[in-house]
Amino acid sequence: MAPLFSPSRTEMSAIPPDHAPPPPEADEPTGAAEAIEATEAAPRFSRQPIRSFVLRQGRMSDAQKRAIEDGLPRYGIRYGNTALDYAATFGRQAPVVLEIGCGMGDTTAKIAAAQPERDFIGIEVHGPGVGNLCKLIETQGLSNLRVMQHDATEVVRDMIAADSLAGVHVFFPDPWPKKRHHKRRILQPAFVHELAARLAPGGYLHCATDWEEYAQHMLEVLSAESLLQNTAADYAPRPDYRPLTKFEARGLRLGHGVWDLVFTRKA
Ligand SMILES: C[S@@+](CC[C@H](N)C(=O)[O-])C[C@H]1O[C@@H](n2cnc3c(N)ncnc32)[C@H](O)[C@@H]1O
Repeated sequence: MAPLFSPSRTEMSAIPPDHAPPPPEADEPTGAAEAIEATEAAPRFSRQPIRSFVLRQGRMSDAQKRAIEDGLPRYGIRYGNTALDYAATFGRQAPVVLEIGCGMGDTTAKIAAAQPERDFIGIEVHGPGVGNLCKLIETQGLSNLRVMQHDATEVVRDMIAADSLAGVHVFFPDPWPKKRHHKRRILQPAFVHELAARLAPGGYLHCATDWEEYAQHMLEVLSAESLLQNTAADYAPRPDYRPLTKFEARGLRLGHGVWDLVFTRKA
């Protein structure tokens, strides 16, 4: 397997002052990244005016810090601005699926375990989630799963070659329900176009949400992308490979709906 990385003290240290998180607002969604402690495991991000997440000051337990410090050097892929060599990363040629915003990584690990013939890369900015996913990779011996702690929009832009992915998963992205925050939603036309262009012909983009108005927005944006075609008339039935997440289970308990969208890249 390929060299991963050993984060230096600098990489694992403070968010530079000009990248410090904005103060949290009362109406931010509860799923937003919130617990990366400024002094631990915070990746560097370049300047970008609008992000789909907020890194809040928060505490990580010693176990969470250890999970990242031990796990990232073994199971992490370091951000860089050259195209990722999948074969070198995984030590084999196999279809690659990217998951964006994988949270605590439980779904990511379940899917990777169920599909050993594919390789998976989970991207997440939230430190405890990254640490947990590293632990799942370790305890389950998942040689087909790697993790990146970085802004997924930058990873896709800088590291994912055109026509190279078998699939992309975006499960329960932060809905940013306030109208003035809609610009923070990760599924915007420009990013969807970038994702579509990185899918191999026939590759799929699978999004899911329990927020109806975001589902409508997704349907509009994905349908308008000329590189994509819908696999359903509008929303798709949940594919068997996607297990129920805790967000989904909560939504269902509250009587909310869940919407899956599965589009494929045109030839
Ligand atoms: C509502 S949570 C859903 C987590 C997971 N997909 C699930 O279904 O349980 C959304 C996640 O996306 C992550 N996220 C948001 N924007 C991101 C970005 N640009 N790059 C990487 N992760 C991001 C957040 O940190 C958060 O953990």
